Amino acid sequence: MMYKHLLIEKQDKIAWISIDRPEKLNALNSEVLEELHAVFSALKIDEEVRVIVLTGSGEKAFVAGADISEFAQFDVSQGKSLAKKGQDLVFDFIANMTKPVIAAVNGFALGGGLELALSCHIRIASANARMGLPETSLGVIPGYGGTQRLAQLIGRGRATELILTCRMMGAEEALQTGLVSRVVSQEELLATAAEMGGKIMTNSSNAIAHALQAIATGYAEGVDGFEAEIAHFGNCFGHPEFKEGTQAFLEKRKANY
Ligand code: COA
Repeated sequence: MMYKHLLIEKQDKIAWISIDRPEKLNALNSEVLEELHAVFSALKIDEEVRVIVLTGSGEKAFVAGADISEFAQFDVSQGKSLAKKGQDLVFDFIANMTKPVIAAVNGFALGGGLELALSCHIRIASANARMGLPETSLGVIPGYGGTQRLAQLIGRGRATELILTCRMMGAEEALQTGLVSRVVSQEELLATAAEMGGKIMTNSSNAIAHALQAIATGYAEGVDGFEAEIAHFGNCFGHPEFKEGTQAFLEKRKANY
């Protein structure tokens, strides 16, 4: 399938997705969101892909937010459906993927752009990256999960400060606060993502899928994460990759997943 605003490449079981509207700093309009839903739906069942990396085209931006020109005229009900549709089709959809999704934040990640990175399972950033939730400066609030996921990741106090001040965080502060897990130069960013993807792939993809789900239940409403962990742990025992992993250890060899 061809995409108008996404560049897709597959190599060594990693799918690379670049949001490609550099002239608008990769802002998320409805077409981009629909294409993201389509590509993640396809990658979910693509047996040749084990890790997904999401980044932005150009050297300036990951994603500079939802496309402001598209929703400036919206009323209350259109505003609600914008957030609901976006969360269902893209942001929660990515967060619920059972293949790891790494955000390679290569520049501005603002508003919906930071929320997109927050939906990914792991974030790494280039040293020039700038991250923030400037929605209250536009008279609105984050609507793609930012009020929830940012607070979960960096703590309620820090998230509240960022949302209320609209201040941008640089890469070093993002590293210190746990918003990203690594910072490298822009030249090294994609190689770092590839290396991380490669390391993940030496482990059982079945166990990784269960780990992602077990971690997520800790943040879900009305679900006991410890109970979920017991169920996911137990399920791993029924999978051939568990037999391979434990057998390989006992035979003093590397597991072949
Ligand atoms: N929605 C729509 N268009 C956007 C956009 C967004 N979120 N972010 C950037 N653009 C567009 C600009 O309008 C401009 O388009 P133009 O050349 O047709 O005028 C183009 O992208 C380049 O951006 P520009 O503002 O000229 O770059 P800059 O280097 O001066 O500033 C930013 C960079 C990121 C600070 C600035 O673009 C910005 O503040 N963007 C909005 C961020 C935001 O509030 N996002 C939250 C939305 S919920």
